Amino acid sequence: MARIKVKNAKEIELIRDAGALAAETLIRAGEMCKPGINTLEIDEFIGDYTRKHKGISACKGYHGYPRYACISINEVVCHGIPNANTILKDGDIVNIDITTILQGYHGDTSAMFCVGKVSKLAKDLVDTAKFCMEEGIRAAGEVGARYWDIGNAIQDIADENGFSVVEDYCGHGIGRGFHEEPTIFHFRNNALKQFIEVGNVFTVEPMINAGRPGTKTLRDGWTAVTSDGSLSAQWEHTIVRTKDGIEILTLPR
Ligand code: MF3
Ligand code: CO
Ligand code: CO
Repeated sequence: MARIKVKNAKEIELIRDAGALAAETLIRAGEMCKPGINTLEIDEFIGDYTRKHKGISACKGYHGYPRYACISINEVVCHGIPNANTILKDGDIVNIDITTILQGYHGDTSAMFCVGKVSKLAKDLVDTAKFCMEEGIRAAGEVGARYWDIGNAIQDIADENGFSVVEDYCGHGIGRGFHEEPTIFHFRNNALKQFIEVGNVFTVEPMINAGRPGTKTLRDGWTAVTSDGSLSAQWEHTIVRTKDGIEILTLPR
């Protein structure tokens, strides 16, 4: 197995700068999630805000992706394409996923936003998905942690709550590249036995479904939805393994 990149303090600082801008953009985009707004308006804001702060939106043009960010509503698992016809309504759960490049380094983060009053199931799913991400991050910071500990911790929480973990989309190393090695499974596995090393930078971004874990891609070639039409929720941080545990690099300043 190839050794996973170890980043130095300077590189980590640059990823932290990119991550902070991504996080600050995400908070403001989240505040726009009100009934009646369309997702293109939110995406335009993300593009403008990123540009104004000297960043580049990594998604636009990535393998032909057409917009600045991904906005995924309800049964959309990930890679929802912002557009003028998708209008937020009361009860929607919305993931906004922002990846920002600053000084050549990437920061990648996403969060869920509830529009108006959402169902108890939707709220439980959003909260559980957040806890899954947090427990995945915590597991990555334990003494002697291996990459498989992340998926195992996440799967435990999903199972306890009667939800499922998406297997078709994964976490990833990140730095100068958007998606670097390794690919990180969020589900229970015994495949990722490598130890997490100090200086490894990667994302934890579990997608949790209310129903079955399966997904399918719509004809636009991007939008991933649950195969059974059930709700899906996701949270994401970019993190670095440190000598004491984990530092989250996608926090606002
Ligand atoms: N931000 C997503 C991730 O967490 C990737 C989006 S790729 C895009 O890895 F092309 F769809 F934007
Ligand atoms: Co990511
Ligand atoms: Co992302």
